[in-house]
Order: sequence, then structure tokens, then C-alpha cells
Amino acid sequence: MADNPDKKMVLVAFLQASNCSNYTGSWRHPETDPGFLDLEFYQNIAATLERGKFHLAFIDDRLAMPSRFGDSFEEAVEHGVRAVKLDLVPIITAMGLATKRLGLGATYSTTYFSPFHVARLFASLDHFTMGRAAWNVVTSLNDSEAQNFGVPEHLEHDDRYDVADDFMEATSELWDSWEDGAVVLDKQTGRFADSDKVHRVDHAGKWFQVRGPLTVPRPPQGHPVLVQAGQSERGREFAARWGELLFVIYPTPEACKAYRDDLQRRARLAGRDPDSVRVAPAVYVVVGETAEEAEQKLQQIEDLANLTDSLTLLSEVFNYDFSQHPVDEPLSDEILASMTGLRGFLDRVIELSGTSNPSVNDFITSSGRGTLREFPVFTGTPTQVADQMESWFHADACDGFVLAATHMPGAYEDFVNLVIPELQRRGLFRDDYVDGTLRDNLGFIRP
Ligand SMILES: Cc1cc2nc3c(=O)[nH]c(=O)nc-3n(C[C@H](O)[C@H](O)[C@H](O)COP(=O)(O)O)c2cc1C
Repeated sequence: MADNPDKKMVLVAFLQASNCSNYTGSWRHPETDPGFLDLEFYQNIAATLERGKFHLAFIDDRLAMPSRFGDSFEEAVEHGVRAVKLDLVPIITAMGLATKRLGLGATYSTTYFSPFHVARLFASLDHFTMGRAAWNVVTSLNDSEAQNFGVPEHLEHDDRYDVADDFMEATSELWDSWEDGAVVLDKQTGRFADSDKVHRVDHAGKWFQVRGPLTVPRPPQGHPVLVQAGQSERGREFAARWGELLFVIYPTPEACKAYRDDLQRRARLAGRDPDSVRVAPAVYVVVGETAEEAEQKLQQIEDLANLTDSLTLLSEVFNYDFSQHPVDEPLSDEILASMTGLRGFLDRVIELSGTSNPSVNDFITSSGRGTLREFPVFTGTPTQVADQMESWFHADACDGFVLAATHMPGAYEDFVNLVIPELQRRGLFRDDYVDGTLRDNLGFIRP
């Protein structure tokens, strides 16, 4: 039974500013709206999610077109394998205009942006949305991204997190460089702000030197909500220090619970309240009025997958060209050691395939990349889907879920129309937002 029977789920929608969702075949779905270049596309999704009382809509990011596979972007462009990635700021702003309560999250890389830029951006967003901003802190993945920023190779995995620690320290200092209440705005006396409450930061880290102060008063939430998804040893250390909402990918509730227990333990060791971290695994939901309808929908969706999508995405995520091997050839220790992308993912492939030298086929099956099986798939009637969500939630495997889309916007609409009412009926999900910021809605303390 859950650690607190009155606890409610956190629900986050996983969005892409792209031609496809996480499921690359999604753009080929007959019901997918092709309007990914229109702001209304994102605003409509935001309105649907707010109707469903979702906590947060968050958009992922990648700073390069997939181009490791065959050392070319050709397959990615031809097949629409995440070929498009729009800038997130205008989209988040537009989604904020279409909603009043929904939290809005954007992904920004600590490897390719600067602390001043990111601190200013999220402080501005937090003001405009009256405290609804969240930042998905990522360290980025591969050489294709590096080469778009004038760097030949992506930094080594653990070094990226050292940079990220320094980045977070500088960013936090910038948000705090204006004390609460510093703005006076007294037209009579002509006093705009209290300079005693605005401070230089003089951050002198190994990687970043920032004088400050920030040019934006302290955000309504103090700091935007920090989203993180580190799964490797070093990534977990980082997540336990900084992360609040932790996104993960685990195939079973047992594996997810082990992560959650570990992160709570690490947060405690880092001097934080373990309740200040919430764990939400990514899932797909395919729901129908009847089990048969759900099964047909699932079949239609799964038929959209193809091998090229998987290989293109694997090459991107592992920073390694998978076109070099027959699909059943076991990959040598040297090759595996040369993969500098997602470390947590590689550990998972080795664990799930049961061999320390997995083949390309093992990579596809164990990672599920490019297929619907990358995340757990909850299928069936609203009752059956709610049962599956409840079993993870009540096993204390997680604090909620990150809903990825099988097609857009239909996957979000189906979930809001069919599953949310069932979760609410069971008391697993709230009936409405509370007054206040995203932080208040998540039950997080204001820093
Ligand atoms: C739900 C979810 C969303 C993610 N979104 C992004 C993203 O938008 N951009 C990115 O570069 N990495 C993204 N990642 C990858 C993580 O930032 C992280 O690198 C990954 O989980 C592996 O952890 P590790 O770096 O500790 O090996 C995401 C991971 C998850 C689970």
C-alpha cells in the first residue's frame, strides 16, 4: 500500500516541438495533426492538458538533427526521425497564453548554453506565467550537438555533470541575486528598487564565471521547478542534489521503486527532504472504450514502427554509428566503451539482454528505441489503464507519470477524456488545481 493513502498522482505530459513524438512513427499516424509548425498545435494540446488538470506540459530538446547513423542526416530527414526541433521559448510562451494553471517546462542544456542566459530566460518565463515555469536540466548527448556549437566532440559523460553542477550553482545564485520584495516601484519618491536587496553574485567556478546581478527580479517561484532525468551513477548524484521532478524510464514497477528509494536516500544524504523529489516514469497509454478498440488502436500504432527509425535513434543516443555492423553481431568491449551517449541506457541494454556484449538487435529489443516498447505501454479500457497506473503508484514505484504521445493530439485527448475521470473517481488524481504556482501545485517548498 502507498506510503500515504491520500497521496495524489503527479501527471506530466511529454511533448516534442517536432514533427514526431518520442514515438517516431507517430507522424505517420492517420490522426496525427500535421501542424507542428503552427503555434495553435501546441496551444490546443496545452488547453486539453489543462482541462485534464495536468500538473505540467514539458517539451524535450535536442540540439542537432540525428546524423550519426551512416554518418549522415539523410535517413533522419527522409523518414522524419526527429528531423525537426523548434526553439522552445516561443512555444512555451504561446502555451502560457492559452492556459492559466498548467505548468510549462522546457529543456535547456547545461553544456551548450550559459548560466546567465538560462537564468534570465526562466526567470522571465516564470514572471510571465505567474509562477508556472519548469526547467528540464539536461547535459546533452552527442557529437552532432557539439558540432553545432563549434566543438568537435561532446564532453565525456561524467565531466558533463561536473559542468552542470557549476552551471546550477551560478544559475541559482543569479535567481537569488534579487531578494524578494526588492522592487519598490514608488512613483512619488522615484525609487524603483532597493539596491540593498540586489546583489552581485561573483560566481567563480571552474567552468563559469558570472558577475551578476541578474537583470530580472526574483521569479515568483523563487527558482523554477527543476526537472532532471539522470539515471547513471553520476546522473543520480546530480539529480539528488538539484532535481525536484525526476523523469525516468523503467520497464517494471520494481525497477522504478529501486530508483525512487535510491534517490530518496541520496537526497537525504545531500541534506534534502526526501519528499522534495518526485519520481515519474515515462509511459505510453493506448485507451479505448472497449478492450477490443484499445487493441486495434495499439496494433495500428505499433505498425508505424520501422527499423531505420530504431537504428537512427540508437546511433544518436549512443553517439555511435550502428550502420557499421550486421544486426546480430555481438559488439566488442572496445566498441561499447567508445559509446559516450546515455550511460544509463547502455547499462539497461546490458542488463536486459543478459549479455555483456549485446548485438544491434539486442540494443533494439532492450532499449525499445524507435518502437512503442521504449516505455511501458498501458493499454485497455479506462478501468484497465487506471488499474495499471494504480498498481505502480500504490507499490510506491513512483509519484506519478510522464505521459508520452503515440500520436498528436489524440493521445492526450483520449487520456484526458477517458482515463482522467477514472483516476479522479478512484481518488488517485486531484479534481482541480490549487491556487498558486506550479511549485504549490506540486507541493514543493519555495527556495
Ligand atoms: C523523460 C525523459 C526526458 C528526457 N529528455 C531529454 C531531452 O530533452 N534532452 C536531452 O538531451 N536528454 C533528455 N533525457 C536524457 C536525460 O537527460 C539523461 O541524460 C538520461 O536520462 C540518462 O541519464 P545519464 O545522463 O545519467 O546517463 C531525457 C530522459 C528522460 C527519462
